[in-house]
Amino acid sequence: MDLNAYLTSGARWIEAELDRRVPPADTRPATLHAAMRHSLFAGGKRLRPILCAAAATACGAPREAALLPAAAIECLHTYTLIHDDLPCMDDDDLRRGVPTCHKVYGEAIALLAGDALQALAFQLAAQTPVAALEIVRELAAAAGSQAVVGGQVEDMLSEGQPPDAERLRYIQQHKTGDLLACAVRMGVLAAAGTPAALAAATTYGQAIGEAFQIADDILDATATTAQLGKTAGSDAAREKNTAVSVYGLDGARALLQERVEQALAALADFPGDTAPLAALARHIATRKN
Ligand code: IPE
Ligand code: IPE
Ligand code: MG
Ligand code: MG
Ligand code: MG
Repeated sequence: MDLNAYLTSGARWIEAELDRRVPPADTRPATLHAAMRHSLFAGGKRLRPILCAAAATACGAPREAALLPAAAIECLHTYTLIHDDLPCMDDDDLRRGVPTCHKVYGEAIALLAGDALQALAFQLAAQTPVAALEIVRELAAAAGSQAVVGGQVEDMLSEGQPPDAERLRYIQQHKTGDLLACAVRMGVLAAAGTPAALAAATTYGQAIGEAFQIADDILDATATTAQLGKTAGSDAAREKNTAVSVYGLDGARALLQERVEQALAALADFPGDTAPLAALARHIATRKN
């Protein structure tokens, strides 16, 4: 399959839906809606919504079945990025190739834009035509204290601490893995997939989730700011526990490959076309931004 065409088509598909669903930038309070749109439409890779759609098609459904959860996960993810960049967290100035939300709109509006995007995520998920309640439950679990927020807390606690492989795994599984696994699982639920497909989605999603964060840590240490659209070297500057600080570059690369293989092995349990999920897993390991 042509992965580049697939990624471009998926990004356009979800961006059109987000544009329909997020209030226009001149809707009161205009500064809030402008801030939400600033971060949402700055040009993210849209991998979570694309994974959500790919999971639905791996269950034999059209990608449209996953439209609302796909839009929801991108809103929730964008909220985590806005808060992640705040001065009280990673204190970053650049995101998705543009100045971070708080740099443009100030800290208070950035905080509130994140809050509003999180609320919008649940509003969208709740409107899914099939399995809305299960999907909302899934999203809430992935957003919570034992998932993305918990992962962010451990990530911050790791700053300045010695390398700790056990804590690193917790950070990767929760700050990143849970949202990716949630995207895949929501795609299966929206497609009314079988219990076997849902279980496969969990195994695949958790493996690519960890892989995704290992790749993010490698890129932070090896790529340029221009290439990433966010400040390179941010992890080392903050003395974070990352795959690179714990395992070194070669060790991190080996672990990344291992996780991708685990993800690919789970695909046999989907009834439909798994070529996109397979290509996406491989892409996560080789991506350049
Ligand atoms: C960045 O996610 C945050 C992490 C979990 C590592 P992405 O690399 O998917 O960021 P965008 O959405 O493409 O900007
Ligand atoms: C961010 O992890 C994860 C979440 C936003 C939940 P990072 O702090 O590593 O992400 P980047 O590198 O700033 O995108
Ligand atoms: Mg962070
Ligand atoms: Mg960060
Ligand atoms: Mg990072």
